[in-house]
Amino acid sequence: MPNKIEVEIKEKNKFYPIYMDMEYIENLRERIYKDFNFKCSKFLVVISERVYKIYGKILGFKSDELFILKDGEIEKNFKNYQKILQCCEKKGLDRKSALIAVGGGVVGDITGFAAATYMRGIHFIQVPTTLLACVDSSVGGKVAIDTDYGKNLVGAFYQPDAVYINLNFLNTLDDRQYKSGLAEILKYAFIEKSCEARFDYGLYDFLSVHCSKILDRDLRFIEKLIKVCIELKIAVVTKDEKEAGLRKILNFGHTYAHALEKITNYRTFTHGEAVAYGMHFIFNYAHKLKLIDANYKEMAMVLLHKFGFYDKTFKFPTDKLIKIMLKDKKTEDDNIKVILPTMKGYVKEDTLDIQTALNIF
Ligand SMILES: NC(=O)c1ccc[n+]([C@@H]2O[C@H](COP(=O)([O-])OP(=O)(O)OC[C@H]3O[C@@H](n4cnc5c(N)ncnc54)[C@H](O)[C@@H]3O)[C@@H](O)[C@H]2O)c1
Repeated sequence: MPNKIEVEIKEKNKFYPIYMDMEYIENLRERIYKDFNFKCSKFLVVISERVYKIYGKILGFKSDELFILKDGEIEKNFKNYQKILQCCEKKGLDRKSALIAVGGGVVGDITGFAAATYMRGIHFIQVPTTLLACVDSSVGGKVAIDTDYGKNLVGAFYQPDAVYINLNFLNTLDDRQYKSGLAEILKYAFIEKSCEARFDYGLYDFLSVHCSKILDRDLRFIEKLIKVCIELKIAVVTKDEKEAGLRKILNFGHTYAHALEKITNYRTFTHGEAVAYGMHFIFNYAHKLKLIDANYKEMAMVLLHKFGFYDKTFKFPTDKLIKIMLKDKKTEDDNIKVILPTMKGYVKEDTLDIQTALNIF
């Protein structure tokens, strides 16, 4: 497996590398500084509190180059965004400086948004430490914070200068967070054929066949999954960086998921769990509309169940979720836009038929 993947965003004439390896985490700081010292005047590392507790010493960043962010989706807020900017000012970061995000998607999203806006944009480096951040959020340049009205409502498209994936971080991830990453991987299986990638990776069948190895965290399989998902994401975002068309498919299961996260105050579900519920909902919806046959719906349900997703005892008030979906940034003129499955691996965008949606569960 190559341990460097190049991303080219043509619209911006921007290239950036994604490194993937299992080198000693101890070397990471030195490596990043070596790669960026020639163009960066100063660095500020935004690190998740939990990741700092586990890896702070090993990583060796000095205390005056750190901003420690408390954990949880509720921390991806305006106050913390402001605090990060204040820290940048206090430490004298200038236009040639870099923000380094070390953590999961929460740290990556908020740090990226700070990097995109501080002095109209400074360097931004991603060090994803969760499976979800490795396969999805660290690549593609969507950065954001949540507001009182909903998830990711303030943000930007801002590509990182580099992404450093080190698989060793995943050893300390608890099972729940590991599975949360698997939900986004399942998403890629459901949308793979619509990603217009160069190769057919057969992700759906790979997940079906190797489910137990993947759940057992066999590193060879994790490595392959990360690589395939990154390739699929790159295939999409390099064609449509700003979500004018193709990129919308990455939102499969997400409109429902974001509403579910919001209605539960970001405390009940991880992002991946919410996405799994979102996918479950949308498969049932598509089946009700006869967009997919019973066979494909059943196959999808089996795959979700195999990976331990979906608990039938949870019942969500669809009417309330729809009210939140109406505030989603993808909603146009009160039309809730959703990505629907059409065939194994294929999806398309459509407007949610609210009456049908209300009768799903
Ligand atoms: N920008 C994008 O394209 C994109 C895509 C998907 C999701 N997201 C966003 O990503 C966020 C979810 O990211 P996430 O699932 O990584 O959650 P997260 O960032 O909240 O991390 C989950 C938990 O794992 C802990 N953790 C992180 N690394 C660890 C490690 N190596 N060992 C032990 N614990 C570790 C964290 O401290 C945190 O408590 C959401 O805000 C979502 O909206 C963004």
